[in-house]
Amino acid sequence: MAHVVIVGSGIAGLFAASMLADAGHQVTVVTKQRTKDSSTNWAQGGIAAILDKTNKEAMEAHVQDTLRSGDGQCDEAVVRSILSEASDRIQDLIAMGVRFEKESDGSFSLAKEGGHSSKRILHAKDATGREIERALSSYAEAHERIHLRPNTLAIDLIQREHRTPDSGVAGVWCLDQVSTEVVTLEADAVILATGGVGQLWKQTTNPSVATGDGLAMAYRAGACVDDLAFIQFHPTALWSNRERPFLISEALRGEGAVLLDNGGLRAWQREVQNAERGERNPPSPEQFSFTLKHSPEGSMATRDIVARAIDQQMKTSGTSHVLLVTSHLDEDQLGKKFPTIAGRLAQEGLRLGVDAIPVVPAAHYMVGGIRVDAVGRAYVRQTKAIMPHLFAIGEVACTGMHGANRLASNSLLEAVVYAHRVAQHLIDRPPEAYEGQHPPWRADGLDVQKEHAPIVHDRTSLVSTMSQEVGIVRSNQRLRRAERRLALLNKEIELIWKGSLPSRAIVELRNLALIGHLVVTDALAQRQNRGLHFNVDFVKDDTPE
Ligand code: SIN
Repeated sequence: MAHVVIVGSGIAGLFAASMLADAGHQVTVVTKQRTKDSSTNWAQGGIAAILDKTNKEAMEAHVQDTLRSGDGQCDEAVVRSILSEASDRIQDLIAMGVRFEKESDGSFSLAKEGGHSSKRILHAKDATGREIERALSSYAEAHERIHLRPNTLAIDLIQREHRTPDSGVAGVWCLDQVSTEVVTLEADAVILATGGVGQLWKQTTNPSVATGDGLAMAYRAGACVDDLAFIQFHPTALWSNRERPFLISEALRGEGAVLLDNGGLRAWQREVQNAERGERNPPSPEQFSFTLKHSPEGSMATRDIVARAIDQQMKTSGTSHVLLVTSHLDEDQLGKKFPTIAGRLAQEGLRLGVDAIPVVPAAHYMVGGIRVDAVGRAYVRQTKAIMPHLFAIGEVACTGMHGANRLASNSLLEAVVYAHRVAQHLIDRPPEAYEGQHPPWRADGLDVQKEHAPIVHDRTSLVSTMSQEVGIVRSNQRLRRAERRLALLNKEIELIWKGSLPSRAIVELRNLALIGHLVVTDALAQRQNRGLHFNVDFVKDDTPE
């Protein structure tokens, strides 16, 4: 039986771990904090899926919505194959204990989000990720063949013979954050399920662990990465001066919440009063939304369009946020459907269904990642051959499903489908054990970093560069400025890295700086505005100025 090391404990990592362990393999799940500290745990929306495989029309509509959202860059065959597996994987999740919301007649309650033409999102109120993480982590914790290793930070992949990408990987060097020792975890196969890189931006909906560790490790080991220019900003994170952004699920807009600016809110309120005086039905706030200037779907357009519309509105009006209006909806119903959001708003002194919610876009999802084939195998960057024994699943992987802009709630589905495929592949063809010598970790002559200040300073400057120069709307000038600053930062960080024993702070900073550089390089290489990449120097869609 094989020993598989999985890095990351979100839906993808835990699902693959459980399936491999059920089939008799030994699995170690390495995770940087607690098992539940993953992006999955923070997901509010849900999983988009057509449960009735015979309903061809509904399936085709989901395919078309995904392709439209991806703005012409999805791999259609990949989209079709993932969506056709949806109902089987949902059954798997249910069998593992996930409880999706049901209606009183026993059917699943389905929600709608931006870019979806109908309600098709399974959810658990507004805390779907927490429910999935609860079920999958209890399943994994109870499994005798799964060894969960919290507080263990993966540093780098160990390569097999000759230390070349073509020879494949033989394990992972990790920092045990309790003993502060570097440990060598040997493995017959390594699966990276480390999520995204939201921490590169000041405003992000991601947890603090989202520092692109798996992506950076794979890149350093010679793996092929793709589509990194496509960083998805969620249109509606709660704006607050004091706190980190809190996601306001798109499902709230699916229930009728509307995006307005101050002027739109006043105009709508005036019309409501006029209608009351004239004993007419009040108008819908959607008619007053600035988003209608950008798409006939208004507040429910795809995320790239809505986030750009908000960005433009904020820049034109000089305001720090726009407003999400819910006062035309039933307060009790909203409270029942969105208890997490209602609770968080209450902490800000706001009532869901009454007060306008101040919102801003925030970095949310990395569409690109480690390029993988249909069973999650990574490729070697130079040769485009399969890199033996290395797999990637979930947000860190780039399967081709999301194109240039991910459709809401498609990512948990992609994660579970690819987790299943990787596990099945390893069960069908167990990898041979590595008989060679594992190279030692380079530790000689390294010292504990005595001064922490340069690391803090470099991270602040990295995040500020990415936030100011590599946001929703880009320009050649801004991207080139970011390129120069990141080149300098990467040099400085590499110097610290080479001379010091690893700590979480330096490992994360090194990874973030590398990914920042890769995002900027890919953004500069784009030759057209598509989906999430929008460069003002392209005067129209496809024409560089
Ligand atoms: C949301 O609930 O709005 C987020 C869902 C997603 O990112 O897929």
